[in-house]
Amino acid sequence: MTKFYASYPEGRPRRLRRTAGMRALVRETSLEPRHLIQAVILREEADPSEVKALDGVKRMTPAEAAEAAVRARDLGLGGLALFPYTKTSDRDASGSLAFDEGNLMGRAAQAIKEAAPEMVIIGDVALDPYTDHGHDGLMGEDGTILNDPTIEALCRQALALARCGFDMVAPSDMMDGRVGRIRKALDGEAFEDTGILSYAVKYASVFYGPYRDAVGSRGALKGDKRTYQMDPANALEGLKEAALDISEGADMVMVKPGLPYLDMITRVKDKFGAPTVAFQVSGEYAMLKEASKAGAFDFQSAMMEALICFRRAGADAVITYAAEEMAGLL
Ligand code: PBG
Repeated sequence: MTKFYASYPEGRPRRLRRTAGMRALVRETSLEPRHLIQAVILREEADPSEVKALDGVKRMTPAEAAEAAVRARDLGLGGLALFPYTKTSDRDASGSLAFDEGNLMGRAAQAIKEAAPEMVIIGDVALDPYTDHGHDGLMGEDGTILNDPTIEALCRQALALARCGFDMVAPSDMMDGRVGRIRKALDGEAFEDTGILSYAVKYASVFYGPYRDAVGSRGALKGDKRTYQMDPANALEGLKEAALDISEGADMVMVKPGLPYLDMITRVKDKFGAPTVAFQVSGEYAMLKEASKAGAFDFQSAMMEALICFRRAGADAVITYAAEEMAGLL
């Protein structure tokens, strides 16, 4: 067997950890503000900013989101990913508010593009913030989520987002074949420069709990999302999903949730080499926040460690609710 390292006592790995300067010299990965994408939950003026399940995160009006975009630009953040809070009375079976360019997402995009036009903004494509049953797709009479009719709706939603100035649309719905159809729909209206960040490897996860509260879906959701989101036990299926989305035209792919799924980030990045984004989801943020409140550790130190681990695993960027706070420390 080839010996790659001198072993003790000649070899002493601690030499490279002795001082901060030595550690910096041999550090293998870095975390910069451009690697962080701020997750932003939008609200109408009359709706509450406080999210009970997500201490430390406030919903923002379009004007507040525009101010956040200016701060994000000044900090050098990679982008903003927007999600809307929708009250029960604005939801219906087909999620029709999703197609309305005057909705919260559209108005926020316009306000942001006026205030900080160079800031990258990403719009989530899925019907769950707008449906009265809380699912990402259209529901058939027997309660199944209908794939092909949902794709039509997602194309309309993606077009509405593109018209409002989103740089990228991010289908988070996990319907089969939607990336290719959205690409075609965008190109058909001369939005060939609007990118697609696909939630390619997205699991049916309890870690989305606080998010459902944040966008107003918690009470609404009937059943669960396991007929379209992936089984946490599966890895090869995730590679297939990523391969399909890339072949259909996804510019970037996402793995979600983040920390319990680091292996998938590494596998997807290694196999396809495409820009790969990790989503540190609401439940992950809440875990660190609540544990720090209970005295387990310092929130910012724990968050910083988690974020560098995403980078080490192979993520090019991380969507996180703590992007602005962490970038301020970098
Ligand atoms: C909806 C969507 C979800 C998240 C992003 N887009 C929730 C879900 O699929 O149920 C989760 C984000 C988070 O937990 O922070 N398609």
